[in-house]
Order: sequence, then structure tokens, then C-alpha cells
Amino acid sequence: MENGAGVRVEFARDARVGLCTTGPKSLPAKYLYDAIGSALFETITHLPDYGLTRADKRLLRQCASTLPPRFQAAKVVVAELGSGSGSKTRFVLEAFSAKRILYYSPIDVSCEALRLCERELSDIAGVRSHVGPYLEGVASLKESRPDNTPLLLLFLGSSIGNFDADERAAFLGQIRFHLRPGDHILVGFDLVKPRDTLLKAYDDPTGVTAAFNRNVLGRVNRELGASFDLASFSHLARYNERHQRVEMHLRSEKAQQVQIPESGATCKLAPGETIWTESSYKFRTQQIRQLMADAGFGHIDEWIDDDWPFMEGLWAVAP
Ligand code: AVI
Repeated sequence: MENGAGVRVEFARDARVGLCTTGPKSLPAKYLYDAIGSALFETITHLPDYGLTRADKRLLRQCASTLPPRFQAAKVVVAELGSGSGSKTRFVLEAFSAKRILYYSPIDVSCEALRLCERELSDIAGVRSHVGPYLEGVASLKESRPDNTPLLLLFLGSSIGNFDADERAAFLGQIRFHLRPGDHILVGFDLVKPRDTLLKAYDDPTGVTAAFNRNVLGRVNRELGASFDLASFSHLARYNERHQRVEMHLRSEKAQQVQIPESGATCKLAPGETIWTESSYKFRTQQIRQLMADAGFGHIDEWIDDDWPFMEGLWAVAP
């Protein structure tokens, strides 16, 4: 399992398009997750002000036992988009008896995340990791799975909130296309909450989120041969009320020009200019129900956390 040369070529192209432009600058959020970024994100999930992951865990613990009876088939395949460390998934896998899981398939672009996940979960089920983009992984499951074995697909932690609205609808539609009647999808959505709560969650006083954000330029340095001075960027978290999203930016504190050799281009920044690195959308329950219905999923059940507004929802592909 190695990240291929193609990934670097794509990164070099995305850095050229996003950073070496005269217009507003941005980088796709997926580049936040190299080995260092994934470790920093794992740390974020333990921060007192970032309640999202704890809410997700509480709800999974609560709903896991209701999942196995939904499937009449003798065996199921459990797959997961963005495997993370695998600790939340344990609740779901343990709710099925080991005999009922044909295999567990985490799908992730990060080899490091998949290795962690294999280490964490292989005592409960056979793990068949898929390294690559989510849709490619889900498409491959369609072929590798016996006809009588339904799929339970997990998309936890409100990772769906890191897609823009158009991307999100298109993505869910594609997922639906690759599933079969009887398959289920369990999705976590972070809900709208007060601005102050959100800003504390995305701009913590320990500076872990700032390090997570800055690391994306560290990655441009390491992988694309650039020499961004990370100390000359400050971390910025803004809540955009109209779009219901927290935006993370890196603000350049000085005028600078940085050559990105692998992209064959130069990034020019004015003092105060920002690079938009991530959007984290927050949802209302009615919007979630509509989004999933529009993508062709039938609503089965939902759970909401009392302490940190967050929703876990279960949908099925109608037979
Ligand atoms: C992975 N994702 C759901 C996180 C979020 O909350 O949007 C990533 C993150 N960004 C900053 N803090 C956490």
C-alpha cells in the first residue's frame, strides 16, 4: 500500500491552481491529512472545546446495537469512508457477532490511517483496506461482494461537512449509484450551534488546530519542494452564518513570494491575504433529511446528542 506518484502530480497541479493565482487562494482540504496532519487531527478530537468526535462516539455507542437486527442476511460487509483511527468503528463492529461480518473494508487515501485502523480493528473482523478515493473504494465493493451480502457503509464524524454543497449532493448521488437494494448508510452530521462554541472548537487555545492548518503548507514544502515560512502565517477560523460553515484560512502576515518547484509556479501573497484551507459545514436536521432523500436514500432512523448537537442518521436503499 503506497501512495502513488500520481497523487504528487495531482497535488502539484492543485497547488499551482489554488496558490499561484492572482485571485483568492485556496487548497483542497484533503491535503491537510498527511501523516503529521492526521496525527494532529487525532489530537484535535481530544480537545475540550472540540465536542464533535465525543458526540459521534456517544451516539454510535447508543445506536450500534440497533444495527444488526436491520439485516436479515446471514452476513454483512461493513465499509467505512475515511477510516480515521478506527476507535469509533469498534462499537459498530462489536455489535455484530464476529461471524456475521464477512469483512470490514476501510477506504482512505492515507496509508497511515489504514495501517492504524488495521491495527485497531483486526481482532474483531477480517480487514480489507482500500487505499484510494472514496468513490473508487465503494465502486470496488460492488464487484467484490457476494449478491446475498448487504453492505453497511459508515461515513462518520461529519466528514460530509467538509464537502461544498454541490460536491456533497453529487457525491451522495454517486454513492447511491454504487450501492444495491438492501444496503444501508450510517452518516454523522454536525449540527448548527452558537458561533462562539464553533469558533472555540476551530481555534483552540493550545494551538493544535493552528498547527493542523499550518501543516498543509509544511506539506507543500516537504512534497513539492517549496519553502513557505510557516511562522509568517496565522491561523484564522471564521463562521459564515449564511453558508452555515466554519472556514479555516491561513493569513500571510507579510508580502511574500514563494516558489513551488514541483508546480513550476510562484505563490505571491500580499500582507493580510489568506489561503482558504477548509470549510466545515454545519447542518439543520430538516436539511439533512432533504439532502439524503434527494440522493435517493430512504430514512430509517436518527439519533441526536444532547450535549453537542450532532446527528447520526441511518438510511437504506429501497429493495
Ligand atoms: C474531519 N472533519 C470533520 C473535521 C471538521 O470538524 O470539519 C476537520 C477539522 N478541521 C478543524 N478541526 C477539525
